[in-house]
Amino acid sequence: MNTRLINGNKIAKCIKKEVAIQVEELTSYGIQPGLAVILVGSNPASQIYVRKKIRTCIELGIHSEQVNLPEQLSTQELLTAIGKLNQSENIDGILVQLPLPKQINTHRILNAIHPGKDVDGFNPVNVGKLCSKNPCFVPCTPAGILQILVREKIPLIGQKAVIIGRSDIVGKPLALLLLHQHCTVTICHSRTRNLAEVSSQADILVSAVGKAGIVTSEFIKMGATVIDVGMNRVETKEEFYRLFGKNRKRLEIFQSQGYCLVGDVNPLEAEGVAGLITPVPGGVGPLTIAQLMKNTLLACQRRRGQNDRSLT
Ligand code: GUN
Repeated sequence: MNTRLINGNKIAKCIKKEVAIQVEELTSYGIQPGLAVILVGSNPASQIYVRKKIRTCIELGIHSEQVNLPEQLSTQELLTAIGKLNQSENIDGILVQLPLPKQINTHRILNAIHPGKDVDGFNPVNVGKLCSKNPCFVPCTPAGILQILVREKIPLIGQKAVIIGRSDIVGKPLALLLLHQHCTVTICHSRTRNLAEVSSQADILVSAVGKAGIVTSEFIKMGATVIDVGMNRVETKEEFYRLFGKNRKRLEIFQSQGYCLVGDVNPLEAEGVAGLITPVPGGVGPLTIAQLMKNTLLACQRRRGQNDRSLT
């Protein structure tokens, strides 16, 4: 089996171009979509993600505001900041970068974001709408994964999809999206028995658990499409060899950075078994940001009564 890599950067670039064209058109009418990104504390991974989101807004002509708040912030103080953005005329989309510090009640925060500005799709109103197939904001990573499958023309109707991971951000909403596309969907998690055996029945296997290389060849049906949502750091040589063998390009990265990134899928084991696979980095990641830009544009179009189509 020849394993082909899916180029997430290329698909994301197409989506961003489509968004940029529509942003330009709106701007010519004096309307500029706006996104506010709230970062609480100084989690290094969150800082990188937020920087990428703001940079992409600039690239596409979307107005952006980054709100940095201190680690010790209370739930009430964060609610006040969200209240202001809910009222702001310049802001169409609001994103609170997760995870939040322990003292903050994440449910209350996600509840407080106006459903019409909830570009992450985490407010229960949007979750309910997704579940009942109403137009809504779809969480960006699952929406990006669906774009990959559709744009790569992967058959979906009647196909067996197995999702490893039951998070509110990826696993659960992705299961709904694939179900709506007529896949037969199984969600696996840490308590699932015979995980490899269940996974190996999938025509489409998605892993979103954040464990370096847990998906080995025995998880993958010959020719399956494998979507790797994991983003993990490899920091020891033993682990490097288990995941990358003698891959020279990766070794250079590992030696120069002192670590390298790997998904949930062991690339050595997937090679020759999977039909198609998303690499890490350069697979699903770029799609998440592209979908965020698309959701911000849609939020703007809807709020300003420009367009109500394709909100899903
Ligand atoms: N943290 C990890 N993924 C996400 C995401 O999609 N949105 C937000 N707000 N935080 C995240």
